[in-house]
Amino acid sequence: VGFPTEALAATGFVAVAETKADTITVPTGYGFNTLLAWGDPLFSGDAAWGTGAGEVNGTNLTADQQERRVGFNHDMLALFANPIGSPASAGGQPHGAYIAAFNQEYTTGTDMFPGYSAASASRNTVDVEIAAHGITIAGIRLVGGTWTHDVGMRVGDVAEGALVARRITGNTRFTLDGPAKDDPRLAGAVAGTFNNCAGGFTPWGTYLSAEENFNQYFANLSTLPAGTTKANYQILGMSNGATSRRWEKYHDRFDLAKMPNEGFKYGWIIEVDPYDPTRRPVKHTALGRFKHECATIVVQYPTGAAKGKVVAYSGDDQQFDYVYKFVTDGTFDRETPRAKAHFSLLSAGTLYTAKFNADGTGEWLPLTHANVDSKAAGAFADQADICIRTREAADVLGATPMDRPEDVEAPHDPVTFAGTGKVFVVCTNNSNRGGSATAANRPGTGTVRSSAADAANPRNNNRTGHIVQITEDGNDHTSTTFTWSLYLLAGDPKAASGAVGDVKDTFFGDRFGSPDNITFDNRGLLWIATDGNPNSFASNDQVLCTEIAGNGKVRVKRFLVGPFGCEVCGPLFSPDNTTFFCNIQHPGEDGQASTFPNGQKRPVMVAVRRTDGGIIGS
Ligand code: FEO
Ligand code: CA
Ligand code: CA
Ligand code: CA
Repeated sequence: VGFPTEALAATGFVAVAETKADTITVPTGYGFNTLLAWGDPLFSGDAAWGTGAGEVNGTNLTADQQERRVGFNHDMLALFANPIGSPASAGGQPHGAYIAAFNQEYTTGTDMFPGYSAASASRNTVDVEIAAHGITIAGIRLVGGTWTHDVGMRVGDVAEGALVARRITGNTRFTLDGPAKDDPRLAGAVAGTFNNCAGGFTPWGTYLSAEENFNQYFANLSTLPAGTTKANYQILGMSNGATSRRWEKYHDRFDLAKMPNEGFKYGWIIEVDPYDPTRRPVKHTALGRFKHECATIVVQYPTGAAKGKVVAYSGDDQQFDYVYKFVTDGTFDRETPRAKAHFSLLSAGTLYTAKFNADGTGEWLPLTHANVDSKAAGAFADQADICIRTREAADVLGATPMDRPEDVEAPHDPVTFAGTGKVFVVCTNNSNRGGSATAANRPGTGTVRSSAADAANPRNNNRTGHIVQITEDGNDHTSTTFTWSLYLLAGDPKAASGAVGDVKDTFFGDRFGSPDNITFDNRGLLWIATDGNPNSFASNDQVLCTEIAGNGKVRVKRFLVGPFGCEVCGPLFSPDNTTFFCNIQHPGEDGQASTFPNGQKRPVMVAVRRTDGGIIGS
């Protein structure tokens, strides 16, 4: 696998125009189908979603039913060849079978339940929402050129295998591991996972999911006494009073006045084994606790070696927050991918945060207790404390505050996960860059930071975002130093110099804002899915292909526009590049008019293929 700084042939499709159409718009010669919408049954024998007699919909849906159905607001998507290592991973024809795992980021009652209002949220709607969070795991199969949900699929694609279908929800029990697993703040049952945004996947066949805006679920911060707990919760943005969803009305665990430590059990990277439903999901405290966007995995093999350290990259998606990476102590052996030891690789290692220097160099600053303590003696009790209060420890080290780091992706070999030394950091936007210092400061701590534009975040009032490219020194993903450059500043190439969205000549082609998730095709081209646009842009959220044009500049071409009011998430290519998958999150969010995909607006997975079955984008 290459990466986009190599000269590449121009992509062959004709770009689609901006549109606010309430459908998926793709280039001529392409088509799409949808599958696995919110509420679809995952198990045979369960009633269909719909308004007919005996069918299930937002009026009569119960929590028990939601636990057995596709959740709400699809985000990251990963595909696992079934059986593991099968030729399906090399293209899927004619036996393309995958275990699909995807995140269900959050719920909006107004888009789920007719007549819903937060103030009158019932015990039933609350419990449905809790069950609609988490992860959905389901079988998908390519049948006659169309990706379909295979309800009865079994692990290994053999009759004696376990059922693939499975939900992880806000009620699922987790195990903790890593330095903070025995910290008293994490004592007691750890139930559920919330606000799972992006994530990652590993060469040992597991799914990683990132707990992002978990602060939204906890009420009544104002009742806590001043101290490190309250300060940490303030930094993470927990609510002084009621939450928007009112779950605390029915469940003490969301009420900080009653269970003040529950907020520490979220904000982690979790790991789930889609091939083995008997393996309990894990929260990895070693990777730190913040608003994790993702956990992108590469393996750093020494020359000629089959074993290498595993590196996980992550962003903390908040204005003026940081980029992180984690390097394991142990090594992955590509000759025995499912070895038991691999399942604890993410339990022990070194967490780093990134400092971007103005001269184009950068450093990975180790978040070890020794290092942090040398700069703020006694501020953190031990490594567990750093894992729990990660943002505060990164503040001490002087990490670079970024414009909302969302996806951090590294092109890598699809089988061995060997990287190229390149890493792309997507900063989605930051309207407070260059604004009042208050926005950059840490609430409740006295930590003062500058909001001023800097080399890595060069535009004030950055409403359209940008992408930073890192090259690890020696192309070694375990390196503690790197160089970096701006891949592009998103916006409108036709915007006036200095106007909002001025791309400063960093790309030409189609305008877009708020890049969020990115992925690479098997030629190494970088594709972008967006979450938000300036109002002046006449388009729903979209997917764009980027390449380095003959003149050495980045060219951007619009490939897909999503339905009205949506966000396009989870962009992913089948390994043979004949299908482009994405997830449509919140079509018609917050009461906006949308009927996508089929009369009632529902979050859903989308598979895009060429009508001639050819390579996407060629
Ligand atoms: Fe859930 Fe940072 O996007
Ligand atoms: Ca995101
Ligand atoms: Ca976003
Ligand atoms: Ca989202």
